[in-house]
Amino acid sequence: MSLDLDFVRSQFPALQTGWAFFDNAGGSQVLRPVAERVADYMLTTSVQTGASYEPSMKASEMLAQARARIATFVGAARPEEVFFGPSTTVLVRFLATAMASQLSAGDEIIVTNFDHESNIGPWLILKERGIVFKVWEIDPETLMPNLDTLGTLMSDRTRLVCVTHASNLLGSINPIRQIADFVHARGALICVDGVAYAPHRAIDVQDLDVDYYVFSFYKTYGPHYAVMYGRHDLLLELDSLYHYFYGKEKVPGKLEPGNPCYELAWGAAGIVDYLEALSGGKGRQAIEQAFEDIAVHETEIGERLLSWLRMRNGVRIVGHRGSDPSLRVPTISFTVDGHRPQDIVARTDDARIGVRHGDFHSRRLADALGLSPQGVIRASMVHYNTAAEVDRLIETLDQVLR
Ligand SMILES: Cc1ncc(COP(=O)(O)O)c(C=O)c1O
Repeated sequence: MSLDLDFVRSQFPALQTGWAFFDNAGGSQVLRPVAERVADYMLTTSVQTGASYEPSMKASEMLAQARARIATFVGAARPEEVFFGPSTTVLVRFLATAMASQLSAGDEIIVTNFDHESNIGPWLILKERGIVFKVWEIDPETLMPNLDTLGTLMSDRTRLVCVTHASNLLGSINPIRQIADFVHARGALICVDGVAYAPHRAIDVQDLDVDYYVFSFYKTYGPHYAVMYGRHDLLLELDSLYHYFYGKEKVPGKLEPGNPCYELAWGAAGIVDYLEALSGGKGRQAIEQAFEDIAVHETEIGERLLSWLRMRNGVRIVGHRGSDPSLRVPTISFTVDGHRPQDIVARTDDARIGVRHGDFHSRRLADALGLSPQGVIRASMVHYNTAAEVDRLIETLDQVLR
């Protein structure tokens, strides 16, 4: 099925402003059904969950429904396998804190130099407990991670590998299932940052066979809120982050200190409503169908920009040069000889096109690729972008680079 772009765009009121948004990897526009659900919850259901009076029971039921919908979104086996938090950065920090007592001095954690800092820095607090960190570096030629390199880093003390599903700078998709199999065969766990992947493709944590998976709703058409998946038996082993009477068995409550934000959890489930409306089905199958249609459209508009960039002298595409949807999402970064990224972006700003420059907190990757301190220009698209918007961006770039 092809994507009904008129329907898609009607669901994002901010797209009517005349701006062309190409900074979606920074933050996407919010769906009308999401905003309506947040307002609806706040105006009709603002009581504390967990009591026996009727409005409270209704609030508890709505939170349970929202959790179940998000569990379906990621393909979890059960709703309790997902827990909410304010951001990906915070959830990774939570996980690091909650894992502390199962790690001993001398145990090893592998982080990468190609992740966003959110799946690197928050882990490093464990250095205080004597945990040894190793860094899996990207192959600077292929711009992909290499399993042989990972193999040289892993030892019988390796407990965890933290790696991103898609790079928010390169747009490349990493082969997570293959990496998970490799890591598991060596007796370690894997924690995946799905922030740059979730807006573009269906996530299936069971098919990927990952242990932990995290992403933020505000880049996936929802509110400033985030969710982490963890395999149920692993969540049971984590330390409680809540009061002393929240024992280890209290999953996921022990991982949501202060309770989740009910209205944002309820609102975020509107993303699933939208995907169902888009594909005309229900549940998991509808989500997968919607993302298949999304991928086709994204590949077309991504190729439109990439093919123009490939033809320009002096332009370096930082990432895959082609638009193969199994290798990349349409998060497209580039540099231009003789032009500072900020100067180009100043011109796109004037043309009411939202593009961004910098390293987008993938600082270690930018350093490794010799892109610091200026970084790159990043045009990050999602499915609501149109071919006409891409042409508008190309025209503006054409004028600047003339
Ligand atoms: C790949 C990736 N991971 C993590 C984050 C951080 O997410 P949050 O702001 O929810 O902590 C970002 C934000 O840009 C990102 O692009």
